[in-house]
Amino acid sequence: MASQDLLSKEVAQATFNQSKSRISVRGIKKRFGAVEALRGVDLDIYPGECLGLVGDNAAGKSTFTKMLSGAYVPDEGEIKIDGREVRFETPNDAREHRIEMVYQDLSLCDTIDIPGNLFLGRELRKSPEFLGFLNKSEMRKSAQEMLDKLQIRIPNINSKVAMLSGGQRQAIAIARAAAFNPDVLIMDEPTSALAVAEVDAVLDLINRLKETGVSIILITHRLQDLFRVCDRIAVMYEGTKVAERNIHETDLEDLVQLIVGGHAHANTKQK
Ligand SMILES: Nc1ncnc2c1ncn2[C@@H]1O[C@H](COP(=O)(O)OP(=O)(O)O)[C@@H](O)[C@H]1O
Ligand SMILES: [Mg+2]
Repeated sequence: MASQDLLSKEVAQATFNQSKSRISVRGIKKRFGAVEALRGVDLDIYPGECLGLVGDNAAGKSTFTKMLSGAYVPDEGEIKIDGREVRFETPNDAREHRIEMVYQDLSLCDTIDIPGNLFLGRELRKSPEFLGFLNKSEMRKSAQEMLDKLQIRIPNINSKVAMLSGGQRQAIAIARAAAFNPDVLIMDEPTSALAVAEVDAVLDLINRLKETGVSIILITHRLQDLFRVCDRIAVMYEGTKVAERNIHETDLEDLVQLIVGGHAHANTKQK
C-alpha cells in the first residue's frame, strides 16, 4: 500500500512536471533525403524563460525550431503544448497555438512602410470593407503603439523598410511577431548581422518580451549574448541535443567544448 502511494505520488509529480512545460518535444526526427537533420530530440520550453539554442552549422537548430513554427512537419516524434499533443502542418497552425518565429531572412517587405510591414497580411481596411481601402491612419496609429509598447524608437514610422538599419529591421520583424501575442517566440540568429549598439537594442528587446511572460527560444552563434538574456541553454550536435545547462551552471568555455565536442564532452559533464 505504502509503495503504491509512493508510486501514485511519483506519477502525479511526473504529470505536474509535464504540464508545467509550455512546449514539450519528444523523440522528434527529421530527414532530408540522405541527411538526418534531427535524430530524436527531446526538449522542454517553460513559461517566461529564454532558452538559448546553440550548436555548430548544420547541427539542426533551424530545423528543430521550424518544426515548432509549423514550417516543417516532423517525420517522427511528439510535440505537446500545455500537455496536449499537437500536429502542425503550416505556420498558421503554430500561430493558433501562439507560437511565432522570426526567421533569419526576416521576411519583411522592403518597398512598403513600417505600418504596412507590421500589418502585412492582416491590413486594416476602411468600412465598408468590400471596397478594400486601407485604413492607413489607423494602421499608423496602431503601429506606433506597437513600437512604443516595446520601446522601439524609429524616427520616422513612414519610412520604407529598405531605408532602415539592420537593427531597426530586426526590431520591426520582432514587433510584427509580438503583435500576434505569442506565448512562445522563436528567433533564429537575430543579432548575427548587427552592429554592436544594435545587438544591445535587440537583447534589451528580448528581455522586455521575457518580462511580459513570453517564452523565447534564441538561436545564436554569439555565445556571449546568451549570458545577457538566457535562463537555460540547449546544445545541439549533428541532429541530437547533447546537453542542457542552466545559465548559472555554464560558461563560454563549457559551451564551446559542448558545441565542438558533442557527445564525448556532454557525457562527462551533463547533469
Ligand atoms: N530544406 C532542406 N532541404 C535539405 N536539407 C536541409 C533542409 N533544411 C536543413 N537541411 C539540412 O539539415 C541539416 C541541419 O540544418 P539546420 O537545421 O539548418 O542546421 P543549423 O540551423 O543548426 O545550422 C543540415 O545538414 C542542412 O543542410
Ligand atoms: Mg540555422
